[in-house]
Amino acid sequence: ARVLLVASEAVPLMKTGGLADVISALAAELVERHVDATVLMPAYPAALAAADALRPLGPLLEDLPGGGPGRLLLGTMPGSGVPVLLLETARFAVRSGNPYVDADGNEYPDNALAFGDLAHAAARICAGETVFPAPHVLHANDWHAGLAPLLLRAQGITGVGSALTIHNLAFQGNMAMDTADALGVPHAMRGADGAEFWGKLSFLKAGVAYADRITTVSDTYAREILTPQFGYGFEGMLNARRDALVAIANGVDTATWNPASDALIARTFHVDDMSGKSSCKRELQKLSGLPVEPFAPLIALGSRITHQKMADVALAALPRLLNIHPRAQIVVLGRGDQAYEAAFRELAAAHPDRVAVHMGYSEKLAHALHAGADMLLHGSRFEPYGLTPIYSMLYGTIPVASRVGGLCDTVVDAGDGDAPADSASGVLFDGDDADDMVIALERALQLYSQGAHWQRMQRNAMRPDFSWSGPALKYLRMYEEIAPEAARPLF
Ligand code: ADP
Ligand code: GLC
Repeated sequence: ARVLLVASEAVPLMKTGGLADVISALAAELVERHVDATVLMPAYPAALAAADALRPLGPLLEDLPGGGPGRLLLGTMPGSGVPVLLLETARFAVRSGNPYVDADGNEYPDNALAFGDLAHAAARICAGETVFPAPHVLHANDWHAGLAPLLLRAQGITGVGSALTIHNLAFQGNMAMDTADALGVPHAMRGADGAEFWGKLSFLKAGVAYADRITTVSDTYAREILTPQFGYGFEGMLNARRDALVAIANGVDTATWNPASDALIARTFHVDDMSGKSSCKRELQKLSGLPVEPFAPLIALGSRITHQKMADVALAALPRLLNIHPRAQIVVLGRGDQAYEAAFRELAAAHPDRVAVHMGYSEKLAHALHAGADMLLHGSRFEPYGLTPIYSMLYGTIPVASRVGGLCDTVVDAGDGDAPADSASGVLFDGDDADDMVIALERALQLYSQGAHWQRMQRNAMRPDFSWSGPALKYLRMYEEIAPEAARPLF
């Protein structure tokens, strides 16, 4: 099968969130299974710098909607060797920080045209108009690529099945409708049963309306998005397309996130020999400038510092927790909304020997955090999947997380009995009040103080198979459903 994965992010070329992990890990797993998978993504300066063996492919792509011509470069992903096509345009060439918003957090005014180019490049590849062979399946991810399934339909491109994966319904790519002409969206597809959303041209809705299959990244989120609370206005359209909607839960890159072989942590450890974890805890306390106290419960928070991740709730809950539990320590690693970042810095300044914050992005610190902490606080107002709590669980760090989305499917709640449920691997809570979060943290701290219970939860957290092999097979089956040719062996 030949599959074109269209996305805006793929580690290590570009990453703002879990999408980037998923694209690279899924592509690598597909290639492992002899699927001819290629990632198509924008040639951000960072991506150009990081990709291996890049070379220009074929003539310039003239007359893309964004104005200037585009150019495809073919190379490989460092590490995995997965083929990657980078679309070079004048608009992507100047996106050196976050690819969607400027330094003040405002969306770039030319997002419609920039990502319109990406979708058009994908459609031209699918139409066989470039020297790159047309795929059997176009797999678009999130709004960034959402226009591509619409273009296949609009341009009558047959023989290519299309899938859209929703990683986050809150980001919809809603653009001014007056870009529709330039983007080649036919009038017939601009209505409420097409790409229109409250008068805007919605890239994500274009994908939802016209992809052969819509997938999302956990069973629970697939149900939640059919309701007004989580559907963000798309619930009507998603219900209408229910037959095309499937849940395929993510996996995680278990080679990168493996405490037994992780080169980024102080000492490796294993579910049957946890002694290295205390070295990792000491290391995290040192790196964070906190007192090295082996028995102080160490709570980590590591995520985008945003409303989705309940940064506001954590900022209200944590000072209260510090009062209730005079020994608890807190380490925060994250980047996000400036106001929340500032408030976390103030919290650390007010409690220098209890709270440490690392406001920035660091893979190495993320490994140190997951390996060294006792528990991970992960509030989410919605969570399509939630890779971070899985990383922490693989390192025996118990998640204290919201009962939403993928977290319901991956974390088994301890419940409120005297002892935790037999299969418990974390503490789940409802709601987004500081109270809800404080009560959940207190429950976790109580379990932490009961050594044997805690150790059982750690073992439960570390044992399940979160690898990509199951999920990749499900994608493969889905590809074969929408493009029977995809089932034929390549050779
Ligand atoms: P989301 O995609 O909603 O941000 P996920 O938990 O699924 O949530 O994925 C987040 C990814 O980003 C994880 O790989 C996590 O380790 C990483 N990440 C987020 N913030 C940081 C940071 N400040 N430093 C390092 N990694 C981070
Ligand atoms: C999104 C979601 C997150 C998910 C990730 C990868 O950014 O917020 O829950 O794990 O995509 O699918």
